[in-house]
Amino acid sequence: MTATTGPATEHSASARAADVEPIIEVSHLTRRFTSKRSETVALDDVSLAVLPGEFVTIAGPSGCGKSTLLKIIAGLTLATEGDVRLYGRAVTGPQREIGFAFQRSALLEWRGVRKNILLQAEMRGMDRRRAEERADHLIELTGLTGFEKALPHELSGGMQQRVALCRALLHEPRVLLMDEPFGALDALTREQMNIEMNRIWRETGTTVVLVTHSVPEAVYLGSRIVVMSPRPGRIVETLEPGLPERREYGPTLTDPRFTAAAERLRDLLGASHAPE
Ligand SMILES: Nc1ncnc2c1ncn2[C@@H]1O[C@H](COP(=O)(O)OP(=O)(O)OP(=O)(O)O)[C@@H](O)[C@H]1O
Ligand SMILES: [Mg+2]
Repeated sequence: MTATTGPATEHSASARAADVEPIIEVSHLTRRFTSKRSETVALDDVSLAVLPGEFVTIAGPSGCGKSTLLKIIAGLTLATEGDVRLYGRAVTGPQREIGFAFQRSALLEWRGVRKNILLQAEMRGMDRRRAEERADHLIELTGLTGFEKALPHELSGGMQQRVALCRALLHEPRVLLMDEPFGALDALTREQMNIEMNRIWRETGTTVVLVTHSVPEAVYLGSRIVVMSPRPGRIVETLEPGLPERREYGPTLTDPRFTAAAERLRDLLGASHAPE
C-alpha cells in the first residue's frame, strides 16, 4: 500500500510538471540474505523513483533494510530481484558518480580537515587545483574556515560530520546518499547540521536520499518522506508535507504541515509515545 498525504513539494511538483526522468529508479527490489542456518528477507518488492533535486528521507524501524537499500542504489551490494537505475543506467557494480556519507564519519586521524576532504580527489585522480578550490569553497560553506589544518580529534562531533559531508560533496556528485549521518550527534548539534543540510541542498541542487531514525529530522529535511515497515522492508507510505524549500528551523517545527506529517510518521513508526 502506498498513500500520499499533503500537496506535492515545490521540487517534485515542478519536476513532475516538466515530466523529468527520475535520477534514481528502484523497481520491484527484493533482497534476501541466505546462510546455511537461515534466510532473511531484508527488502520485499520496494519501488521508488527519485526526481532530480528531490530530498528524500527514509524512515523505518531498525533492521527494515534501509542501509541495504542505499547500498544497492550505490551498487555496493546487489539485489536478489528487481532493477536499479541511476542517471538512467542500470546499476551493476559500485557507482563512482555519487557521494556516500556513512553513519560514522570515518576520517583519517593523522590528516587535517582539508587533507581529509581532499582524500576524495586523490582516490578519483581529480585535477588537484580544481579539487583544492572546491575543498576551500565547501570548507567555507560548512563553516569550517580556520580549521583547515585541525586534526579530527581536535574537532567536535558536528565538525567531524561536516568534514565527512564536504568529502562526500567534493566531486560535485549529482546524487548524495546519506546513512544516518547525524545519528551520533547530540540534539543541538544535530539541529545545526539539519539547518546546514537544508541550506547546502538548496544551494547545490544535489539530489539527496537520507536515512534517519529521527522523526523531526525526516520531516524537516525531506521534500518527501518514505516510511518503511519492519522486516521484510516494504514502503508503507510516502508523506509530502508541502513545506517550502527554505525552512527556518523554529517556525518550521510549529508549522501545521510539519506537525501533521510528524504525527503521522510517529504513528506509522509506532513511536507516538517515544520522546524525540
Ligand atoms: N551482509 C549481510 N548478511 C546477512 N544479513 C544481512 C546483511 N546485511 C544486512 N542483513 C540483514 O538484513 C536486514 C536489514 O539490514 P539493514 O542493515 O539494511 O537494516 P537497517 O534498516 O539499515 O537497520 P538499522 O536502522 O538498524 O541501521 C537485517 O535483518 C540484517 O540482519
Ligand atoms: Mg542501517
